[in-house]
Amino acid sequence: MNRLLAWTLLALLLAPVSVSAQKFVANYDESKVPDYELPDPLRLASGQPVRTARKWTRKRRPEILRLFQEQVYGKAPGPPPKMVFRLLESSGKALGGKAVRKQVRVLFAGTDQGPRMDLLVYLPAKATAAVPVFVGLNFNGNHAIHSDPAIHLAQSWHRDNAKQGYVNNRATEKSRGLSATRWSVERCLAAGMGVATIYCGDVDPDYHDEFRNGVHPLFYKDGQKTPLADQWGTIAAWAWGLSRAMDYFETDKQIDQERVILLGHSRLGKTALWAGARDQRFAIVISNNSGCGGAALSRRRFGETVWRINNSFPHWFCGNFKKFDNKENQLPVDQHMLLALVAPRPVYIASATGDRWADPRGEFLSALHAEPVYKLLGTEGLGTARMPKADSPIHGRIGYHLRTGPHDVTDYDWQQYIAFARKHFGRK
Ligand code: GCU
Repeated sequence: MNRLLAWTLLALLLAPVSVSAQKFVANYDESKVPDYELPDPLRLASGQPVRTARKWTRKRRPEILRLFQEQVYGKAPGPPPKMVFRLLESSGKALGGKAVRKQVRVLFAGTDQGPRMDLLVYLPAKATAAVPVFVGLNFNGNHAIHSDPAIHLAQSWHRDNAKQGYVNNRATEKSRGLSATRWSVERCLAAGMGVATIYCGDVDPDYHDEFRNGVHPLFYKDGQKTPLADQWGTIAAWAWGLSRAMDYFETDKQIDQERVILLGHSRLGKTALWAGARDQRFAIVISNNSGCGGAALSRRRFGETVWRINNSFPHWFCGNFKKFDNKENQLPVDQHMLLALVAPRPVYIASATGDRWADPRGEFLSALHAEPVYKLLGTEGLGTARMPKADSPIHGRIGYHLRTGPHDVTDYDWQQYIAFARKHFGRK
């Protein structure tokens, strides 16, 4: 063996194994959850305690919001000045006469050439006044949430899956109604509530392309090619899209803009929480199985961890979040503070027994540790310190349930969300 080769081999042997080359093994053992101390939502970064609602609203809330913006999800711009809403299609006799259907195209730059998203809205046909509406992003295109043949097929990029009907990165007829079990549209309509949805890939396709597609480039400064370390990743862009849906609701007289319920599942549940934290126009926020970077406490490192999520999905969070890979204790926030940003508005966290990856207990604890802020603001909070058994929902100002079954959104979940919304909205 020549000397150079020998030295090279030795150097390779001694080189520290890079963290990203390590195999990830998720911890599912409660006794191996590390000790941790959560940042106190009611203490300013300066150490000063927050004892009044006024101090929360004036000082601590903006401080926490800024930390999440700069260190976790990334800062997003405001509404684009030239945005236009175009009604593409509507019917007063959709779903066998039960619904009013609208399909609205949101042109972010005001032109067909620029980025855009399509909003699908169903409202109860019988309504005589403006109605509450559930709004959430979907994974597979608007046409996948219901078998209604009039829903336009999503036109933007989709991951190929021939079996499900996605070919050459486009949706085909075969995918119509694919995700219908996740959207209890008829149940909402019967409860006097509407449902609105947008395909997340319209706002930003869910793969890492250094932010060349989706809405990001519309806001680049001259010469900018990718967001800065504290600027928006994909989750923040999706959340921004939800706020643009809210902008539309403000123009639609059939929708009660003061009773818009934001919900999302999994990565789109993380998105719903962030959108609802930032944009206080949303009246209720619901996280379904959102897990790491959503409702689950990062410091518990149970199931998915910060390192793992940043490596599998490098585009979801902002560049700065990567500083906290395997260093959760150095985060200036944890996810209970994200829920606290929703206060005093009702927030609902749903877990599933088969969804350990998302850390059900960590999601419950987040809800619990958000409670002091809800109480400071004069509301009841969660109302218990004990994690409930499966299928025993808690509907306080903070709602929580652990559903039996896998990572999914089911009709059982929707029944809880409708009951929760009814409880908090009362009769109008
Ligand atoms: C992956 C990811 C989760 C995410 C989930 C989903 O499992 O690790 O963080 O919530 O996908 O969006 O379905």
